[in-house]
Amino acid sequence: MSWVNDPQGPIAREAAGLYWIFFAMAVVVLVIVDGGLIYAGFKFRERAGHVAKQFHSHNLLEFAWTLIPTAMVLSMTALAVPKLNFINDTSNAEMTIHVKGQQWSWIYTYPDQPAFRTNENKPLQTAETLTIPANTKIKIELEAVDVIHSFAVPVIGGKKDAVPGRQTSLWIQADRPGTYKGQCTEFCGAGHADMLVNLVVVPKAEYAAWTRNAVAEYNRLNPPELARFRATYLANACVGCHVVAGTTSQGKVGPDLSKIASKPNIAGVLSPVNEANLKRWIQNPQAVKPGTTMPALGLSDAVVDDIVRYLVTLR
Ligand code: CUA
Repeated sequence: MSWVNDPQGPIAREAAGLYWIFFAMAVVVLVIVDGGLIYAGFKFRERAGHVAKQFHSHNLLEFAWTLIPTAMVLSMTALAVPKLNFINDTSNAEMTIHVKGQQWSWIYTYPDQPAFRTNENKPLQTAETLTIPANTKIKIELEAVDVIHSFAVPVIGGKKDAVPGRQTSLWIQADRPGTYKGQCTEFCGAGHADMLVNLVVVPKAEYAAWTRNAVAEYNRLNPPELARFRATYLANACVGCHVVAGTTSQGKVGPDLSKIASKPNIAGVLSPVNEANLKRWIQNPQAVKPGTTMPALGLSDAVVDDIVRYLVTLR
């Protein structure tokens, strides 16, 4: 369903009302302009026994086609400004979620409150999915780390650019539980089309339970003894090309590494998947598989050791 026919939140509803008014105005303009064009084309076309009359400076016509569009643009502005104020008013939000846009994924950081705190003593962070309670005004704080991105979930409404070096914000609110699709709407490079927004809305009464589960799952995937290895992986170039589910590693160029330790081989050629083979592969992929697009990154031994210690836990 398109957002104008089936808005799922207050912002989309306000915008849809306005959309239909503007659409009706556009239809009137279309009928008058194209109707006049077709009528004139037939009535004054070149034919035997008919000489076209030339004239200019028709005062009434010129007044009309100046004043009518001016009045239309002014009335559209008058209708749109209150809606824009409504859309931009992030005050009284019940919850604030920080959203970071980067090539090519969104990173969601939940509020710095005890309920969202993980065993790393930081607020919960997710990458694939943003989960919010239904019927709750949520402020979204946007930032971008590399280029301009744009956050939009059409049926919920609202759209805002995430601009490097600046903080922008919007609010979202969903009427009903469900899963809603959005998309980065500012072209941001080769992976732009993959930069989806997956918004999951859960009933308000179930949000505390969702939070508990999400924090427990995060803690399970990120045990403290792995923290250093994981941090090393996330700090290096691997993340630009590979996905590891549940982390900020969301590159879509190379294979998904979420379950690499359960795979039969590395890159189809090297088995089993263990620390020694992973190290051999990362240090010189070309030697293992000539022609592979995986580059040798020139990482130090210590860094590669940390990375493979992390990778062998992904099963
Ligand atoms: Cu990010 Cu397009």
